[in-house]
Amino acid sequence: MSKSISGFSKLSKRGKLRWLVENFFKDPENVMREMKSYWLSNEEEQKILDGFSENTISNFYLPFGVAPNFVINDNTYAIPMVIEESSVVAAASSAAKFWMTRGGFRAKVISTKKVGQVHFTWEGDANKLEEAFENLKKKMTADATEITKNMVARGGGVQDIQLINYTGVEKHYYQIKVNFETCDSMGANFINSVLESYAESLRSFVAIQDNFTPEEKEVTIIMSILSNYTPECLVRAWVECPVKDLGVFSNDIDAVTFAKKFCTAVRIAHIDQYRATTHNKGIFNGIDAVVLATGNDFRAIEACGHTYASQDGHYRSLSNCKVEDGVFKFWLDIPLSIGTVGGLTKLHPIAKRSLEMLGNPSAEELMMIIATTGLAQNFAALRSLVTTGIQQGHMKMHLGNILNHMEATEQEKEKACTHFEEKAVSFNAVREFLDSLRVKKTSDSSSILKN
Ligand code: MEV
Repeated sequence: MSKSISGFSKLSKRGKLRWLVENFFKDPENVMREMKSYWLSNEEEQKILDGFSENTISNFYLPFGVAPNFVINDNTYAIPMVIEESSVVAAASSAAKFWMTRGGFRAKVISTKKVGQVHFTWEGDANKLEEAFENLKKKMTADATEITKNMVARGGGVQDIQLINYTGVEKHYYQIKVNFETCDSMGANFINSVLESYAESLRSFVAIQDNFTPEEKEVTIIMSILSNYTPECLVRAWVECPVKDLGVFSNDIDAVTFAKKFCTAVRIAHIDQYRATTHNKGIFNGIDAVVLATGNDFRAIEACGHTYASQDGHYRSLSNCKVEDGVFKFWLDIPLSIGTVGGLTKLHPIAKRSLEMLGNPSAEELMMIIATTGLAQNFAALRSLVTTGIQQGHMKMHLGNILNHMEATEQEKEKACTHFEEKAVSFNAVREFLDSLRVKKTSDSSSILKN
């Protein structure tokens, strides 16, 4: 038996699974059966999923939930969410319901610029490169026409091209920084293709400059790649209402006290990085769930969001809150580079349905929906934190998971839910409760037998 293999990718799916179960599991036949039980029965559909990645042996399931009653800019949405954590969808739904009767959510797209870079080193007189740059831009643009023409026809394309001289920080290092508009697509393939074409144009351009020395006629392309940091692909979502309309909260907390505590909680997440990270994690609970459900790239969205949260050199809350003239205002600014065409959006059968559920939105509309879900999630988390504490709601939801984990019967689950209505849920408390039920059942049945 060997734990390493050459040619794994060449094996059939069954072959991969067979090799894996025989080398890494104690009960290969059971594992093989279990893994195969998650294959889709429709082979064509399974092939589509397998095509998204490599070396696939099965499918990994995550819950697909829905948070209804989201009123955003006066339109009502049911929002698809893919997330494995309990309470998140319930929290989003409850925040949606809360704001539905207080004017709903508002959102607007501030800008939609995407970014890409050609990083290169060049040993020469920087002035000469800067002087030649206008001609280089023309060449790059002309050479890439085949790649850009469809995007231009859709109203997008390259917006501007800059030369950045980084030789002060890294010897001979320059960058061509390009801004793009990619309309309803995230545009990763488009951007990378344009950048690679620009890199090629740069190489051939320097080679034929009459006033360049032989050394200056050569350039080393280090890499050409989009940047996932898109601070100007920005959306704002917000809610506001008179403080008095916030109502009364659990533990008899009145609206004024709530608003004050809530704003302080947000300010703490601007001051303290430990809190900021958890605060923003809560925002991403909502954002990632919709990003995943709609077949977008959650790693890109996370990476960008966290860089944006550190834009002044200190990691801070992505959301803000204030009370002004008696009005409670809570908002979130976040860069979201997403698409509603291309990528997985139409290939993944459920992502396609998610988009349909949202009314087949444009990328800008989806940016607003995603940002709103992040804001709703943040509102719900802070509302719990500054009133009842998070555990009350959280552990109630968690109770179901614990009961499933302990293989509770439907009857036991029912009894546990009643028992824990007024009691703190913990793994041990649930175990003890189930044990007591089960002991009681055994003694009841043995006394029946005796009688
Ligand atoms: C849990 O997934 C998210 C929270 O911790 C967010 C927060 O603390 O703001 C509840």
